[in-house]
Amino acid sequence: MTQLTAPAFPAPSTAPSTVPSTAPADALGGPWPASARPGPGGDVLVGGVGLAEAAERFGTPLYVLDEAEVRGRARAYRRALPHAEVLYAAKAFLCSAMADWVAEEGLGLDVCSSGELWLAASAGFPAQRILLHGNAKSPEELRLARRLRVGRIVIDGPAEIARLAALVAADTPQRVLVRVVPGIAAGHHAAVRTGVGGQKFGFPIEGGDAADAIARVLDQPGLELAGLHCHLGSQITEVEPYLQAVDALVRLLAEIRAQHGVELPELDLGGGHGIRYLPGDAELDVADFAVRVTDRLAVRCAEAGLEVPRLIVEPGRAVAGPAAVAVYRVLSVKHTADGHCFAAVDGGMSDNPRPALYGSPYSVRLVGRRSEAGAARVDVVGRHCEAGDVLVRDAVLPADLRPGDLLAVPATGAYQLSMASGYNLVGRPAVAAVKDGRARLLIRRETVEDFRLREVGR
Ligand SMILES: Cc1ncc(COP(=O)(O)O)c(C=O)c1O
Repeated sequence: MTQLTAPAFPAPSTAPSTVPSTAPADALGGPWPASARPGPGGDVLVGGVGLAEAAERFGTPLYVLDEAEVRGRARAYRRALPHAEVLYAAKAFLCSAMADWVAEEGLGLDVCSSGELWLAASAGFPAQRILLHGNAKSPEELRLARRLRVGRIVIDGPAEIARLAALVAADTPQRVLVRVVPGIAAGHHAAVRTGVGGQKFGFPIEGGDAADAIARVLDQPGLELAGLHCHLGSQITEVEPYLQAVDALVRLLAEIRAQHGVELPELDLGGGHGIRYLPGDAELDVADFAVRVTDRLAVRCAEAGLEVPRLIVEPGRAVAGPAAVAVYRVLSVKHTADGHCFAAVDGGMSDNPRPALYGSPYSVRLVGRRSEAGAARVDVVGRHCEAGDVLVRDAVLPADLRPGDLLAVPATGAYQLSMASGYNLVGRPAVAAVKDGRARLLIRRETVEDFRLREVGR
């Protein structure tokens, strides 16, 4: 293992076990939930629960979800945007408890499949506060959305206009938004930049596709066009792209009024709000976003002589991402002849595909024991059959890291579990909620029996 002289972030605490449990989360040197504290014996407390203690109780890999962090983030959006509608993007991570928390905090829900829709509806989420997305909604999905009476459906492609209109009687119209592509590039990776043309989502404004789709929707008596939608991309940390989107969408609203004599009452700017994954990362400042976007919308509408439409935003990552910590058990530590060190853990790309998909960085920390050893560079790798199954490349960890140790990865609440797979039949991890010093299991670990139960022939 390569010995280093200076760790990039504080090594696990070597203080006595009387470490005050009120030390700020920042002392941990990473994007931890606000409740995180150094705990006794090198542990870290989240929501008042020791991660090592939770790992002992529920096994590993374990995702520990801080309820207060989710609620606090939802509340911060409501406070910053009191006149807007805030919809939590379920694709970031959804389970019944999550649906309850965001509903209780006054948020709506953006779903993009019948699975997400069904889960939310069975959890009792008010259907009128649900918006259905998807670039390839099946007729069955649209039928389910109608049957459950979802508040809004976002029309994302040409085939959907007639498909949806055919399901709707003129006396019970469906409220819809049209997803447009404003031609603005933003986001951390090409795979998630959805604001530019030449891709599968939405109707480009440039070239007239958006205007044509809007005319077709307005022609359908069963479709009530409430407004425009756009989603620029993900992990956006600057407000500027959203201001450009406001400009483009208000221009289109003015054209719609000029052409059709209607003023649309809603404007949905999607999600994409960036969070911190590493200690020094930038994140989108939600309060700044709220003030500048709201101001810009008012100014552009005044210039165009339009009523200001109701703003809608759809944050997913910024609500769920910072609220979870993944805890893994180290299964092997390997030193190669060229001085490389690999610490292999009991999860990997099946519970967190983001590093393999996007090269996403994370921070990682030893929990559950103190180490007096110096720091070393370690690649924290998963247990899957691919060399690319690396969770954290070049992590700084204690040089005496060994099998049996626990590693905690913060900022793992969004697009890990929701993108988890059945690769190698390892099984998806358990999820435990923590709050006020108590932990409870939300989702049990997937077992081989779950895989076997799906088999119906041989
Ligand atoms: C239409 C739409 N809305 C909202 C979101 C949520 O994005 P984020 O989790 O980055 O806020 C996404 C993410 O892909 C999306 O496609």
